[in-house]
Amino acid sequence: MISVAVPDTEPRAAGGRRIIVMIGAPGAGKGTQAERLAEALGLPRISTGELFRAALRDGGPLEGKVRRYVERGVLVPDDLVIDIVGRRLAEADAAEGAILDGFPRTRAQAVALDEMLERARARVTAALYVEVAPELLLERLTGRRICSLDEGHVYHVTSRPPRLPGICDIDGAELYQRDDDAPATVRSRLETQLPPMYEVIDHYCEADVLFGVRGDASAEEVTADLLHALASAARSR
Ligand code: AP5
Repeated sequence: MISVAVPDTEPRAAGGRRIIVMIGAPGAGKGTQAERLAEALGLPRISTGELFRAALRDGGPLEGKVRRYVERGVLVPDDLVIDIVGRRLAEADAAEGAILDGFPRTRAQAVALDEMLERARARVTAALYVEVAPELLLERLTGRRICSLDEGHVYHVTSRPPRLPGICDIDGAELYQRDDDAPATVRSRLETQLPPMYEVIDHYCEADVLFGVRGDASAEEVTADLLHALASAARSR
């Protein structure tokens, strides 16, 4: 349970829907923070990376379409991602809003999100950029371990080790290392994914909904900063 007091949050669009976008380099802590914000704000976390990894594990029509991209650490084509997120946002649990973790990743995705939200009389209420120095990212990603039952339970071999090695504190399930956290794939992810990320940052800066926080503090401090950013978003409107 997160003990941070939840301040007034960012303004809501017509219909009261809160759509919060998390932006950051691979390993910046988007997933960790999206999970904590989802709990603090009572909104579902929608992670495109998690949806794709579930497709790789479970098979089905999506598997063949995304495997070659996710395994190489390059972005899945926009039209496919946009379609998946559109369907997911239409589900009942996202009626009040959602925390989007890892989407949008390109300007085309950001524009498509604006259009789909406009059709639903909603909009992105805040875009939160978690900034971490590039030299920290490789260490964070290669040391990451994830719960095999719930990908929202994220650990790190040194900065956030589980109580029992290799076992999730919450579920008691085995932890695993993502295939794309191998050093060579991490390098490819950083090389190919950072340039489009900066375009997404520009997009939300132009829309005046962008808030940046430093991601190199403890996870608790980063959450507090993000909640304060959401509160100042509310005050500035
Ligand atoms: P995705 O799963 O979204 O991966 P990513 O963006 O590369 O981000 P990560 O999940 O690796 O990192 P994170 O920022 O969430 O960090 P975390 O919180 O885990 O995407 C995977 C793939 O799917 C992509 O490569 C692409 O192929 C495809 N894809 C996904 N979305 C797409 C889209 N929209 N368009 C096209 N393709 C898409 O933290 C990392 C580690 O650091 C953990 O061990 C954690 O414990 C530790 N840590 C976190 N915060 C702190 C802290 N404050 N202090 C110390 N340690 C910390």
